[in-house]
Amino acid sequence: MQSPPDFSVVREQWNERYRAGEHTKTDPDPLLLHLYEEFIAPLFPEPGRGLDLAGGAGRHAIWMAKQGWHMTLADLSDEATTVARQNAQAAGVELQTVSEPSIDTLVRASASSAAQYDLIMVFQYLDRSLFPAMRAAIRSGGLVLYKTHTIDHLEIGDGKGPKAPEHLLERQELLRVFAGARVLYYNETVVRRGTQCLLAQIP
Ligand SMILES: C[S@@+](CC[C@H](N)C(=O)[O-])C[C@H]1O[C@@H](n2cnc3c(N)ncnc32)[C@H](O)[C@@H]1O
Repeated sequence: MQSPPDFSVVREQWNERYRAGEHTKTDPDPLLLHLYEEFIAPLFPEPGRGLDLAGGAGRHAIWMAKQGWHMTLADLSDEATTVARQNAQAAGVELQTVSEPSIDTLVRASASSAAQYDLIMVFQYLDRSLFPAMRAAIRSGGLVLYKTHTIDHLEIGDGKGPKAPEHLLERQELLRVFAGARVLYYNETVVRRGTQCLLAQIP
């Protein structure tokens, strides 16, 4: 039998980065604001339950909470969730946080329909083994919003960001992974940085 992965080394690496003051910006990706106005708000006039997976210091979860969403931020790093809670308090919003590997959060969420989310979002993080569990943790009619770097970033990027293929999406990959979902928005960038973004509704 395969032993479960040991996340302690990765957690400590990320904790170090947060202690050094890295990855703590609070401005959300402007694309979230656009997608919220064009798709998320019209589809969810009543704000729902959202999960920001690998949510870091909370720039996206806090922005969603300001729109009235009930947000949970999950991140392996307890330094990140501490900063996220401080940022939420400063912004005057409620934010639930969990410090654990993403897979644990997703397995719990997919265990019952009551625990599923209306929206799961992931920015700047990739672990392909999570895709099936992500889908199972979104309720029917709910949304997946995913944006991260692609393999093209190695050629056109500014040298910052992930370099290992396991952390970089293939071209069109999110369309294949979430095949069968209703694609509301899809985009790949090819200048300045290589990214891919999908917003799709789970049937
Ligand atoms: C580049 S940061 C992105 C943070 C945030 N999504 C944003 O866009 O500001 C990647 C995050 O993934 C988290 N992380 C790494 N491995 C993880 C895992 N197995 N489970 C949950 N979070 C993880 C790190 O702690 C870090 O906060």
